[in-house]
Amino acid sequence: MTQSAAQPTVPLQHRRMSPEDAVRSVRAFADQMASRRSVRDFSTDPVPETVIETAVRAAASAPSGANIQPWRFVVVTSPQHKRRLRLAAEAEEREFYRRRAGAEWLDAIAPIGTDWRKPFLETAPAVIVVFEVHRGPNTPKPYYVKESVGIAVGILLAALHHAGLATLAHTPSPMRFLNRVCDRPPEERPYLVIPVGYPATDARVPDLSRKPLSEVMVRR
Ligand SMILES: Cc1cc2nc3c(=O)[nH]c(=O)nc-3n(C[C@H](O)[C@H](O)[C@H](O)COP(=O)(O)O)c2cc1C
Repeated sequence: MTQSAAQPTVPLQHRRMSPEDAVRSVRAFADQMASRRSVRDFSTDPVPETVIETAVRAAASAPSGANIQPWRFVVVTSPQHKRRLRLAAEAEEREFYRRRAGAEWLDAIAPIGTDWRKPFLETAPAVIVVFEVHRGPNTPKPYYVKESVGIAVGILLAALHHAGLATLAHTPSPMRFLNRVCDRPPEERPYLVIPVGYPATDARVPDLSRKPLSEVMVRR
């Protein structure tokens, strides 16, 4: 938001680090984030409610276009709701894999080894369904919604990983059924489904690599 005379201000809370501390700190963060992997096999062990709540608080501190904060985080933990979520998602995904997905898309996801079955939507103790919040009877027109919600979700995934929890970014296609399952109004548009929990003891993940820094970063 641009500052105007009418906009009250407060002193910025900022702790300046020495360059050495900054390097140490950002390295520790980068190393920790590099150990994050998408998990598709969850233990049914419960997760502390406060951890999820606090991770959502971290996500909700994200910057957003005009500070509209156009996000809703629906935390689904009841077995009945998780079952409804799984059944509805699998119905969409079955259609997607059989008919809607083009050959190119199926080729791209083949190495991940996923199919229409989504048991993690029931086994994970919590599933966070993230919605974009658009203009509605009680909500203003947002700006840069995708960018804003994307940043919030990035912080959410980082916070949950930081707390030792595993996550998956899941995008059933199409996603409108999530309004029905989560009982959300039409101005809220599904963005991402995030199962959260501890990995199953025998969980395995695809052997993937990251692009080297030299490929993703350029200097001018
Ligand atoms: C926006 C987005 C959508 C994704 N959708 C799915 C999905 O629907 N199902 C799935 O199994 N993984 C999904 N993934 C996870 C990716 O496959 C995964 O992040 C990628 O293969 C890299 O693996 P990693 O997360 O373990 O590093 C998605 C990831 C992102 C960022």
